[in-house]
Amino acid sequence: MSYFIGLDIGTSAAKALLCDQDGKIVAIAQQEYPLYSPQPLWSEQNPSDWWQGSIKAIQQLLSESGVSTNQIAGIGLTGQMHGSVFLDRENQVIRPALLWNDQRTAAECDQITTAVGYERLIEIAGNPALTGFQAPKILWLRNHEPQHYERVQKVLLPKDYIRFMLTGEYASDCSDAAGTLLLDLRQRDWSTELLQILDLPREWFPTVYEGSQITGKLLSSVAKTLGLPAGIPVVAGGGDNAAAAVGTGIVRSGLVSSSIGTSGVVFAHSDEIRLDPKGRLHTFCHAVPGKNHLMAVTLSAGNSLRWLRDLFRTSASNLNGAEELSLSYESMTAQAAQVPPGAEGLIFLPYLSGERTPHLDPLASGAFVGLTSRHTAAHLVRAVMEGVTFSLRDGFEIMHDLQVPIEQVRAIGGGGKSPFWCQLQADIFGSEVVNLAVEEGPAYGAALLAMAADQDAAGVTQVSEACVKTTDRHYPQSTHVERYNHLYAIYRELYPVLRENMHNLSHFAVG
Ligand code: XUL
Repeated sequence: MSYFIGLDIGTSAAKALLCDQDGKIVAIAQQEYPLYSPQPLWSEQNPSDWWQGSIKAIQQLLSESGVSTNQIAGIGLTGQMHGSVFLDRENQVIRPALLWNDQRTAAECDQITTAVGYERLIEIAGNPALTGFQAPKILWLRNHEPQHYERVQKVLLPKDYIRFMLTGEYASDCSDAAGTLLLDLRQRDWSTELLQILDLPREWFPTVYEGSQITGKLLSSVAKTLGLPAGIPVVAGGGDNAAAAVGTGIVRSGLVSSSIGTSGVVFAHSDEIRLDPKGRLHTFCHAVPGKNHLMAVTLSAGNSLRWLRDLFRTSASNLNGAEELSLSYESMTAQAAQVPPGAEGLIFLPYLSGERTPHLDPLASGAFVGLTSRHTAAHLVRAVMEGVTFSLRDGFEIMHDLQVPIEQVRAIGGGGKSPFWCQLQADIFGSEVVNLAVEEGPAYGAALLAMAADQDAAGVTQVSEACVKTTDRHYPQSTHVERYNHLYAIYRELYPVLRENMHNLSHFAVG
């Protein structure tokens, strides 16, 4: 029997997963690390924390699985997209990495759009310049930290830094590379035109592979530390969303996933490149060789619920001088289920970290609208869950406009684990929502890509479909659908009305 490791460099933890050649998961281990926000709008992590976390997660995985390490036939990598790891001549990290949810680069986005042109950028890279992407981060370093910029010799994405540490190779895959804004989607390689216009040297960027291609072998020094044999092949893998799609079977047209984790993502497979001329949806390469995908992102999805939970927990303990409340998501959801759909006229805008789809606005902010003294904590919880789901629906609406076929929605992430949130999604999307037997997101997809090493699209699709099985189904309830359609129409009207005030209020942030 052969086994495969999937390693996910997430925002909150490094997660390692081991599965056998039939796709059965044998063990999972994870190691958390901190996230820093030294200034408003900034979001950073130390690549050394990812590396230490990866080592510990893999060591723990191996000791818990009891599998003979000689049977481990491949490693697949995945991770949070868009981050920037700047390396100097000695391959030392120059400064903490700027992350996907960092919002400091609004001026650099304007700079890129002016230099390249809005339409041309979408034509080449599939997307407009967004604050989270890697290219504006590089320009930010040039504009704000020239002493660091002049030392740069390589710029890597988070998982590709870990690949470098594992194999000594500078390599990426085209799904993650597409999230830099420097990839030519049609060529599936770095865009000479964009690099020239932005005056960025091509040699700073890693070689781009398809998701299932082998990018190098495990170095013997690292193998020793990990307790693995040297020379195990490391495949390209994918950005967390594309890899998760392989792990959830979103590998052919008509299938869409809706993921609610820290961020929320609606992900659709597409054989062709379909571009949203307004740039509201991302079009990226898929981890399935030669294929593409569309993606809508809600920046603060599960994070909105976590924010509310933490707020309840800490305020209760501060007020009572008591221990922190042991408030769980389960108990919060159970309370929300007691409140009628629409939370008695309370709507939440989930823009706690700005918003990507559909507003592309780093200064958008959150709001409760319709709040009265009738509303309880349970109403707030329900409104947050509904608001996050409305925001995901924004993505479905644009996909409909672009004629992306949607036959089945697969609910994944924390949202997929909660039957209440799955039903809410079915009612708000007006579509069938299904669960998966195995749902381990990106790390699982990365392991499947390792299993499909060096195979083409048909091979990757076959591996994915053989391993991914659906289970429960949630059907839209017509009375709820009607009510939510009405509330969604109101939800959509709120941001345009509040936008200017949100921007003005953002100037009051301290820190
Ligand atoms: C995708 C995105 C997030 C990150 C973090 O565009 O920014 O999904 O990959 O997980």
